[in-house]
Amino acid sequence: MARLPPGRFITLEGGEGAGKSTAAVFIRDWLRAQGRTVTMTREPGGSPLAEAIRGVVLGDWAEGIPAETEVLLMFAARAAHLNATIRPALARGEDVICDRFVDASWAYQGQGRGVPAERLLELESYVLKGFAPQLTLLLDLPPQLGLTRARSRGDANRFEAEAMAFQERVRAAYLQRAAAAPERYAVIDASATLSDVQAALVAVLEQRL
Ligand code: TYD
Repeated sequence: MARLPPGRFITLEGGEGAGKSTAAVFIRDWLRAQGRTVTMTREPGGSPLAEAIRGVVLGDWAEGIPAETEVLLMFAARAAHLNATIRPALARGEDVICDRFVDASWAYQGQGRGVPAERLLELESYVLKGFAPQLTLLLDLPPQLGLTRARSRGDANRFEAEAMAFQERVRAAYLQRAAAAPERYAVIDASATLSDVQAALVAVLEQRL
């Protein structure tokens, strides 16, 4: 029997309202049309334990959430998610599409909140142990446009409610990371029309997977 190619781990990143969820569904359908089995998941969350942590870390706490607590919870959720969902799916030979992953911690907790790079490196190596996505699609757009889109959905989370300067730091952090690791990242112009974004996604998937 022909062996299936091993599962691929693909992550989607971007600021608020970049259209990651729509892109995730599109990529899932594209991979399925090629005969692949696909697991779709998200962070923070993606397993029962990690989803419970999501509720805590995205919750509104009158006392506030220190940056240390926030980053530790993001990585606590990630460890559970990797163990319960991502690694088992890849081991079954499935492709995994994840709406946000470790790059979000670098962008939001690192550049957004000011958590030092040394701390993020320690947490990343402790939790991921060298594990990394094969492909990270960065859906890039000006934060003003993304927030307008996100707010039209209602229910702004704690991050969507942050000031424009925060959103600009998040965007810049993502673009810097993409420029530093072009073999893993593809940057997609998310301000384009839906059909142009989808055409760009197909071009990247055909070339990179
Ligand atoms: P969500 O409602 O899923 O937002 P979005 O659709 O924009 O992804 O909320 C997830 C939020 O969590 C998002 O605002 C970014 C934030 N986040 C971090 O700050 N650090 C992380 O490591 C991850 C995975 C997400």
